[in-house]
Amino acid sequence: MRTKEKILFYFNGNFNDICIPLLELYLSFQYLDAIGNSEQTLNFHNNTFNMPKKKYELGLIGLGVMGRNLLLNMADSGFAVAGYDKNQDQVKTLMEEAKAYDMYGAKNVKDFVRSLESPRKILLLVPAGKIVDYVIQDLLPLLDKDDIIIDGGNSFFRDTEKRQKSLAEKGIHFIGMGVSGGAEGARRGPSMMPGGNKKAYNKIKKIMEAVSAKVNGEPCITYLGQGAVGHYVKMVHNGIEYGLMQLLGETYDIMKRGCNLSNPKIAGHFTEWNENELDSFLVEITSKIFKKKRKGSKKYVIDIIMDASKSKGTGKWTSQNGMDLGMPIPTIDIAVGTRYISRLKDERVAASKILKGASYKIKTNDKAAFIEKLRNALYFSFIVTYAQGMALMREASEEYKFKLDLEGVSRIWRGGCIVRAALLEDFRKAYDRNPKLVNLMVDKDIAKKLNKLQKDTREVLALCIQSGLPVAAFLNSLAYYDGYRSERLSANLIQAQRDFFGSHTYERLDKKGIFHTEWEK
Ligand code: 6PG
Repeated sequence: MRTKEKILFYFNGNFNDICIPLLELYLSFQYLDAIGNSEQTLNFHNNTFNMPKKKYELGLIGLGVMGRNLLLNMADSGFAVAGYDKNQDQVKTLMEEAKAYDMYGAKNVKDFVRSLESPRKILLLVPAGKIVDYVIQDLLPLLDKDDIIIDGGNSFFRDTEKRQKSLAEKGIHFIGMGVSGGAEGARRGPSMMPGGNKKAYNKIKKIMEAVSAKVNGEPCITYLGQGAVGHYVKMVHNGIEYGLMQLLGETYDIMKRGCNLSNPKIAGHFTEWNENELDSFLVEITSKIFKKKRKGSKKYVIDIIMDASKSKGTGKWTSQNGMDLGMPIPTIDIAVGTRYISRLKDERVAASKILKGASYKIKTNDKAAFIEKLRNALYFSFIVTYAQGMALMREASEEYKFKLDLEGVSRIWRGGCIVRAALLEDFRKAYDRNPKLVNLMVDKDIAKKLNKLQKDTREVLALCIQSGLPVAAFLNSLAYYDGYRSERLSANLIQAQRDFFGSHTYERLDKKGIFHTEWEK
């Protein structure tokens, strides 16, 4: 017997007095366990928000700052929306922020579901993992056939597939929708990546298009296809995000330890780069980070942050999926790996006293010219990182029958999301010219750029290697480019070795067939 039923069984007296508080308490602890968040305060019986008579167009569960901002964005666009969170403090905060709007903050899940028009459209913005299942479990008994649940979190696409399948059996539509742009994006317009049943998507299309970011008047949302494709695309978005962030981290290290530049100087370079070809959200926020001082102090915030980075899993999943599909995405792989190296802080401190390298100083007589080349190396590596992610999606589309339109993906990534950049318009044009493009790097316009930028990239990286600076994401980007453009690689030796020790056979350049050599005879 499920615990919920057990409680009902033991307390069949005054349901409202005993069962509801106990049920809420039990489910809340379930949620809090799943999130591992002990900071949330439990505040159940808040009767401030009475059950309204009218019906709301969409309901959102998960009223963290992102959820609240998205609801405010929807209300701004003229939609009547409702919100719910187990943590009633979040509901209170929403209602304070939404005073000027027609919005309903529900005090329990039943009232919340009852307040929605049919078919109900319920957007979840809760942490990925078990908690999504707990929320679905809570909703299910209250839902009707054809209701729509939209998971806007960073769920693993395989989990989304399972949820879609089991909910479809109950007649409920489940849309996996990547939402990118953080709290600010949610308020001003995020980029959204929906996948699932098309008819169900059409029912939420109007509201989602209205709240999404716009570029040249076009919404940064498009229906991506059946199944879990929305969460797949968001996963790869995040993989690319990891790669770009690591490249920016290495650029900072080259400027700081390699060139001895001050924070304001570093900020100045990123600001200038952001005004030209490298125009992007991540370069923009990076320039701002180097300007930020601690309140009432001359110290910069960046200098007091521990050099050990965390992650929630989407980069790792992208990397694992690349391995599963046999698709090389080395910049993304190493971006995940370098986060892990960063976390070995104590080991690194100890090793720094044992292992020798160079001085970290870049040997150059012309710093200004070097910085200009560094900009080109970053631009080159940004393009190569996107190319890896896009190539992975092309392969996944074949393998999982996603029928993914990469022109559409480039289009909706131009605004609102974390990887938005001027470059995305170049990529969109490339896929528009050739929807079957195997790799962005071989598009004529992009190839022209790479051919020009690669020389400076090599010069910069040669100096970095001599200096001892760790620039793994840059090196992996160049290695991907060099590997991809090599007509002939050394893989014939690997085949010979495999055949030598394991009779694994090999194919030949001059003849069709499978061959084996008795190497020691
Ligand atoms: C976005 C981001 C977001 C993600 C953070 C943190 O598109 O808005 O990708 O979804 O949660 O970037 O990810 P990590 O904790 O793994 O760095």
